[in-house]
Amino acid sequence: MKLAVIEGDGIGKEVIPAAVEVLDTLGLDVEKVPVELGYGKWEKTGQAITDDDLEVLKGCDCILFGAITTPPDPNYKSVLLTIRKELDMYANIRPIRPLPTVRGILDRSNFNFVIVRENTEGLYSGIEEIGQDISWTKRVITRKGSERIAGYACKLAKERKNRIVIVHKSNVMKSDKLFLDVCRETAASHDVDYSDELVDTMAYKLISSPEKYDVIVTTNLFGDILSDMSAALVGSLGLLPSANIGTKHAFFEPVHGSAPDIAGKGIANPIAAILSLMMMLEWYGHMSEAALVEEAVDAALTEGIITPDMGGAYTTKEMTCAVVDHIKKEMRK
Ligand code: NAI
Ligand code: MG
Repeated sequence: MKLAVIEGDGIGKEVIPAAVEVLDTLGLDVEKVPVELGYGKWEKTGQAITDDDLEVLKGCDCILFGAITTPPDPNYKSVLLTIRKELDMYANIRPIRPLPTVRGILDRSNFNFVIVRENTEGLYSGIEEIGQDISWTKRVITRKGSERIAGYACKLAKERKNRIVIVHKSNVMKSDKLFLDVCRETAASHDVDYSDELVDTMAYKLISSPEKYDVIVTTNLFGDILSDMSAALVGSLGLLPSANIGTKHAFFEPVHGSAPDIAGKGIANPIAAILSLMMMLEWYGHMSEAALVEEAVDAALTEGIITPDMGGAYTTKEMTCAVVDHIKKEMRK
């Protein structure tokens, strides 16, 4: 496997080395290609990502990405959006499940759902005009984009409870009628049960009764917001991994950003990055290694290794060591 490793900025430089340490412990045949992108690069060169960088990324099977800080430049074009579009990574997958000993705002552990977010269009189309008195962004919904994200959600539903919830706002935005119709058609053709919710109602229901949901499929911005909100159910933004799946490539990243408020302090929670690595291993077919990583994270938490975002006092290094030690112990058995 050829893996591009992008630490990015802020705590990306702390949590990605942690995930790479875990990967190295597994002893798999992986060629790592470090790629520098983001705010740091923009400061040095005026560009956060270049065409050459994109070529390097296209030459790799997959990407492990930390986070980048958005530069204060009105003409800045989002690196993440560029990568997602250029590599056509249309499905953003965010599993939301409780972890041992950590409790979120509801103090519950009876939920386990996945947000399947369309990743290339919607309100993140990048088609916009910014003016003094009026600014607008075009929200693009296509049949093709809706079909393939709905298809992805249905495939996932088949491995889970064979049902999806389609989240939209078609009562106000006519563009969502197309999304809703295509998702319904796709679910019916896959023989998957479906229902739908307006996004505002869904936000309420996810917080009041998260246990009722399994696979949720939605458009770009709604998925972004619902998944960050759902992090509060799990307990910290530092715990949520994600995958961006495309036709040829895949890209794995923690849901959180570069966290400048804690960057450089050595206290960032590496679990979101380590679980993103786990999703990468699953995607590549290294199922037993993925299971081992998940088990090691659970074991570290169960031992009480808790970073400050979860109310503890352990550092990034201590958490990483606990995960690595558990893997080594299991591998020796
Ligand atoms: P953020 O996710 O970086 O931080 C939000 C809060 O959560 C902060 O208090 C932070 O300390 C905490 N947090 C996040 N990850 C954590 C971890 N692993 N361990 C412990 N605490 C953690 O979001 P924010 O502050 O809105 O954005 C900061 C920068 O990151 C901005 O420049 C933003 O544009 C960028 N960003 C980048 C993303 C990416 O590259 N994928 C995603 C989101 C934001
Ligand atoms: Mg977000």
